[in-house]
Order: sequence, then C-alpha cells, then structure tokens
Amino acid sequence: MKAKSPVLVAVAPMEGVMDATTRHLITRQGGWDFCVTEFLRVTQGRQPARVFHRICPELRQNALTPIGVPVHLQLLGSDPQALAANAEVGVKAGAKVIDLNYGCPAKIVNRHLGGASMLRYPDRLYDATHAVAQALKALDTPVTAKMRLGYDDTELTLDNARALNAAGISQLVVHARTRAQGYKPPAHWEWVARIAEVVDVPVFANGDIWTLADYQRCVAVSGVHHAMLGRSSMTNPWLAKQIKQHLAGEEVEQVDFKRMLGFLLEWLKLDAQFYEEIVRVMRVKQWLVMFRLRWGEEAKTVFDACKRLTNERDLINNLEDYLLFADS
Ligand SMILES: Cc1cc2nc3c(=O)[nH]c(=O)nc-3n(C[C@H](O)[C@H](O)[C@H](O)COP(=O)(O)O)c2cc1C
Repeated sequence: MKAKSPVLVAVAPMEGVMDATTRHLITRQGGWDFCVTEFLRVTQGRQPARVFHRICPELRQNALTPIGVPVHLQLLGSDPQALAANAEVGVKAGAKVIDLNYGCPAKIVNRHLGGASMLRYPDRLYDATHAVAQALKALDTPVTAKMRLGYDDTELTLDNARALNAAGISQLVVHARTRAQGYKPPAHWEWVARIAEVVDVPVFANGDIWTLADYQRCVAVSGVHHAMLGRSSMTNPWLAKQIKQHLAGEEVEQVDFKRMLGFLLEWLKLDAQFYEEIVRVMRVKQWLVMFRLRWGEEAKTVFDACKRLTNERDLINNLEDYLLFADS
C-alpha cells in the first residue's frame, strides 16, 4: 500500500522516561518527525513559564531538539478555561504545537477527570479541546490530541473521535487500546481504521509497533501510515529510520541488542549531568525492563545481572562486560 503524503513517525510522550536528554539522543538517530513531551498536568490557574521550560527545555530553542526535530508540548486536564489559559502560557513560553492527553490511565489523574477518564464524556472532551483550539487560533498555533479507544470499552470511541475533530484538532494519535486494556497486547489497530474514517485530520497509529514487521502489519490493518512509537523508540531508536528506509525502497539497516546496550551507555553519559546517581541507576533498570519487552532472553540476562546493583560504576562495568564478552 502506498502512502499519499510523506509518512510521519513520532516519538511518543512517556512520563518519567522521555525527558529532553532522551528525546535528544533518540531523535538524533534520524527518521523522527516530531516528539511530544511528558504531560504537564493542568488543574486551575496559570502555571508560570518556568514550569513549561522545566518539562520542555527545548522551548527555549524554538521548540526543537538539538538536531532540529520539533517537540510538541503536552497538557493534561479537563477544565476548559484552565487548559486554554495554560496552552496560551505554553505558546508564549515557546511552544509551537499543544497536544492534549486523553489517554493517561493513572488513577490519580482519572479521579480528577483527566487523561482517559475524559473519554467517558464526549461533550466535555469537545468543550475542553474547543476552548484550547479557540485560544490558540489567535496565536496561530495548532492543537493536537492523543486518545485511547475508550475508558472501559469502545462504545464511545467514534463519538470521541468526532468530538475531537469538531473541536478543531489538527492531528490525532490513537493509542489503540482502552484504559481498561492498559498496556496489554494486542493493540487493536482495526479501530485506528474506523477512527480515520470519521475524522478529516491526519491520524497516527500507536501501540505495539515494536518492529518494522509490526509497522507493516499495522498499516495493512489500519490503512494508516503515520505512526507514533513509545516503548519501541527506547528499545530501538533506529526504528523510525528503518521504516523510512523501507518506504524509500532502500536497504534497511540492522539493529541488534548489543547496539542497543551501547546506546544505553551513551544515554547514561549524557543524562549523568541532570540526575543524582540513585536516579540514574533506577532509570537504567527502567530501560532494561523495557529492553526485555523487545529483546527477550538476551535482555533478561543483562537485567538479571544488574537488577540488584545500586552503584552506577558496577552497572556500567556489567553492561560493558556484556558488550565485550557476550559472544565469546
Ligand atoms: C512509562 C510510560 C509513560 C507514559 N506517559 C505518557 C504521557 O505522558 N502522555 C501520553 O499521552 N502517553 C503516555 N504514555 C503512553 C505512550 O505514549 C503510548 O501511547 C503507549 O506506550 C503505547 O505505545 P507503545 O506500545 O508504542 O509504547 C506512557 C507510556 C508509558 C509506558
């Protein structure tokens, strides 16, 4: 199936994981068209600009990663006025695109009618999104949205998609699972196709695209060519490039687990300046947990060797040993 317009591949927002350093390191591997920040939760009143700059330091650099990939700022909330007011602050702080999170499954967020819980009320979804779209119109800034299929079920999926479309979004990412389905595979890409039929903005498929073969299957099922990659952007930062190479009919470069570990060591060096050692150690383990989802037994061996380590030097030695001796 041939795509009509250029295919876009984006790095998904991932709270607690996808910070500016990680965005930088991933996007500089090539093939990525934009990324989205971790969400900034908006309840009442206006947050000061420094809060926006903390979550998205790239706002000071024209909202671009160092290699020049656009970064969209994500807000999460339910109150139309608060969302609109904070979207304006975000734009004045440097944001070029505001994204709205209607997928977060966290209980604390959902209890206050944020994230996926908005999917129970298409009217509220419309009101919140429309308020932001109206406020940003004056600033000539687009608003985009990221939704799950629903809260408990898919009864309102298409109503929600229509509501977002009517409210004035310029692009829609669909994480093809309900909140109740959490992160449990499979993602239901067939729903991405149904949503794409009822909206007239570009749609991105999201969920369980781990490999080029997954991407091809997702396109075949959904008919949608744009993709947003979350965990796979961390378990294979070259996947966007592989997709683009495949689409261009070029030879697709190969990626293996050792290359991935080398990337993690690079990340550790870059991120070291921002976090204390205890946090860095915790985050390396977070990466290793994620690697297991993609790289299976190889990653499990490394994870098992590292899981009780508390000191960064030991962790680095372990990873380096694996890189040196794994095949010998
Ligand atoms: C640790 C973690 C944090 C996440 N944080 C966010 C977030 O801040 N905003 C958001 O819209 N989605 C968030 N998500 C959802 C992802 O963006 C994505 O929709 C989901 O992981 C499915 O895509 P994947 O299978 O490619 O990972 C998060 C997911 C994970 C695993």
